[in-house]
Amino acid sequence: MRIGVLTAGGDAPGLNAVIRALVKSCRRRNWHVIGFAQGFEGLLSGAHRVLNEENTHGILHLGGTVLGTVSRGHFPARTAEGELRRLDPRLLIKARETCEGLRLHALICIGGDGSLATAQELFQAGVPVIGVPKTIDNDLAGTAVTLGFDSAAAFATDAVGRLHSTADAHGRVILVEVMGRHSGWIALHAALTGGADFALIPEVAWDFPGLLQKIQEREASGRHFTIGVVAEGAHWPRGGLVVQSSAVAETGEVRLGGIGVRLAAELEARCGKECRCVVLGHLLRGGAPTNFDRLLGTRFGVRAVELAAERRFGMMVSYQPPEVGFVPIQEAIRKRNTIPPDSSLIASARALGIALGDT
Ligand code: F6P
Repeated sequence: MRIGVLTAGGDAPGLNAVIRALVKSCRRRNWHVIGFAQGFEGLLSGAHRVLNEENTHGILHLGGTVLGTVSRGHFPARTAEGELRRLDPRLLIKARETCEGLRLHALICIGGDGSLATAQELFQAGVPVIGVPKTIDNDLAGTAVTLGFDSAAAFATDAVGRLHSTADAHGRVILVEVMGRHSGWIALHAALTGGADFALIPEVAWDFPGLLQKIQEREASGRHFTIGVVAEGAHWPRGGLVVQSSAVAETGEVRLGGIGVRLAAELEARCGKECRCVVLGHLLRGGAPTNFDRLLGTRFGVRAVELAAERRFGMMVSYQPPEVGFVPIQEAIRKRNTIPPDSSLIASARALGIALGDT
């Protein structure tokens, strides 16, 4: 047997753990593994290399992906607004021909919701696809958690925690802007575990009075500093998303970023305290995967090979604690995994007095 693997979309810590695990588990079955370069683009260019235990040695703890990745590229199976869209059949045929030419029995696609939407299109076009869910944003459904989220949340927690002493020393308001295009999982986790005073997330509409009240309450109780975590995808009150000036990338997708800096300026003008902002951005995607993501990536890799052996194509491995199961890719991409308003995570934040900016 021969299987192919590719990593697509934004990278996330733990991708190399998946690659290593599937190479090792294929080796024990005497299967060959081919790694495509630069995500789905490798299926068009044909750029690939044989992966074996020798050339995937020592990658378990590395961030990034040894295969390289591309966001969207020629295969944007979602519109800039996030709606599913059909891909050009000629691309799908070309990709299928590449897999057939290499006599692949399965193609393991490691990706987030956009990349798995592409994987689903390939599956419908006859490619024997198996999906592995990754994204630091944790906004893909069908799995209790996506690969990379734990590492990003751990880093954000550390950053928030480190700000307490300096915010306290100077009596400042400090905001931490984190990634989270459609969902506030990273922001809310970091606020809860880093001890922040407020969190702004895409799922909850916020406004200034709630934040100013929080800052004033802290002042009144003798705590002259405030820390807030802001997801890049949180909507500005009565406005839309805050986008970077470079705006729309070649792909048509808006490049988010800037809400933290804008909010710091607004808050400073309104509360009279010095307000600063730290943007974590791509730092959240870099660095070594946590213990949890190394284990999750390893288990995902092993399970993906089992699914290939069982010929369960069109399926995605899924974390269903304590086990790793599988769900149809179709199901995972149907609806985005945002934080439900009635979730216990939001209730916990409110119970601790973390302001969400709503009234
Ligand atoms: O997909 C996760 C994500 O981290 C988003 O939160 C963010 O908007 C996006 O990737 C940015 O990716 P890039 O800068 O690579 O285009």
